[in-house]
Order: sequence, then C-alpha cells, then structure tokens
Amino acid sequence: MRTKIVAGNWKLNNTKEESKKLVKALKKGLKLSKLKNTRVIVAPTFVNLSASLKSAKKSKIEVAAQNMHQAKNGAFTGEVSADMLQSIGINTVILGHSERRTYFNETDTALAEKVSAVLEHQMETIFCFGELLEDRKSNNHFSVVEAQLKNALFHLKSSDWKSIILAYEPVWAIGTGETATAEQAQEMHAFIRGLIANKYTADVADDVSILYGGSVKPTNAEEIFSKPDVDGGLIGGAALNASDFIAIIKAI
Ligand code: PGA
Repeated sequence: MRTKIVAGNWKLNNTKEESKKLVKALKKGLKLSKLKNTRVIVAPTFVNLSASLKSAKKSKIEVAAQNMHQAKNGAFTGEVSADMLQSIGINTVILGHSERRTYFNETDTALAEKVSAVLEHQMETIFCFGELLEDRKSNNHFSVVEAQLKNALFHLKSSDWKSIILAYEPVWAIGTGETATAEQAQEMHAFIRGLIANKYTADVADDVSILYGGSVKPTNAEEIFSKPDVDGGLIGGAALNASDFIAIIKAI
C-alpha cells in the first residue's frame, strides 16, 4: 500500500523561535489523531532544521530540507550538500520546486544530478514539477510534465524509486489561491503513474506516492485527497498555520 504523506514547505518563513513554536503546536495537535500509514513532514529553511528536529523529537513529525546542492563539497558559496544535511539528521529533501526553477534557474539537468546525489546518500527526495499556466492553456501540460520527469528522473533504476516521492504542483496554482480541481489533479496523477508504469513496471508505479501541491487548504483538502491517485499534499501557505495544517493532515 502506498504511503500517504502531508508535507509542509515553509519556504522563506519562520525564525528559529517561530519554527520551534510551530512544530510544538503541530505535535500537540497531532498527538491524539490516529494517523495510520500517513507521514507528516515539515520543511523549514536550512538554519532552522536542527531546532525543528529537536522540537519534533518523540513525535510523528519528520523534518526535511527545501533544497540541496549536487556537489559533495567545493567552491559553491552559499550552498549545502547531502553530507551536511545527513550530518545533522536530515534524510529528506525537496527538489525542483517551481520557485527554485523560476528564481534560481534550476534546470532539469541540475535536478537529475541532485536526485542522483540524494540517492547516493541513501536519502529521499520530494521531487516537484508541474506546468505553467501557458502550458495548460495551450494544452501542453501533459507533454511538459512528461519531459520534466524524463529529464530529471528516468535515469534512475527501478529500485531507486522507493526513495522518490513525487509532488505535482501546477505553477498556476502555487500561492495564487487557485487550485487545480480534484479531477484535474487525478487526471494528471494517473497520467504520471502511467508514464512510470511504461518506463519501469506497474509495481514501481503503484508504489510511488504522488502528492498534489498548489493552494491546498482545509476547505479543499478532503476532496483532492479523496482521489485514488492523490496520495497526499505538499502545502505552502496553509502549512504556516498549525490549525490549518492539522486540518489538512486530518483530511487525508
Ligand atoms: P501553496 O504552495 O500551498 O502556498 O500554494 C505550495 C507549494 O509551493 O508547495
């Protein structure tokens, strides 16, 4: 059975104290809820990873990084490597978020290298991808998503896929308040699973968790999560508020 996952991408938000407070509030709110087969992940900024990990101790909450550099080490000012993350107890990293692609020029080629670096370290990634509004308007959304997956992930072996979590995030729905309909999410997730089944096997495709991201809120989470190929969500804005994030987790 596929694992359900609700992950909060905190982006450039929360000081150390705010991060600790938010993790503690989530811990308190999630204590009594029975979350079977569900993972809860939060992704604070690099400098608050350790403090968040400490606050998350003895809870179901896992902590992930928002990005990582592909090199082992070297002259890459301002970057963070897999070894560095692992050395502080981080084993999950978000890669390929549309904000990284848009504002920091991350290419599919660089992302393929980052994914390989994650796997070399026996870490896992929440790999993000999704089409722009113009791609959807011109009916190119399937081919754009297919190219993103092929270019960054299809060099992997079947066995590598146990370390891959996919997050389909249509760019037009991120932080805009506009959400893909549950039907649009389901249609794309089924398409993605089909691509993986074709390239690898039906078993590999069946086992990969595919999250939806883009303006998920307590009011729409249940409907989106009810779709058979939607295995959870990657949440931005609503993950910054403990009660909203808890409500979304409970909707799974
Ligand atoms: P949003 O962000 O929920 O604020 O739309 C989602 C994301 O960027 O992962």
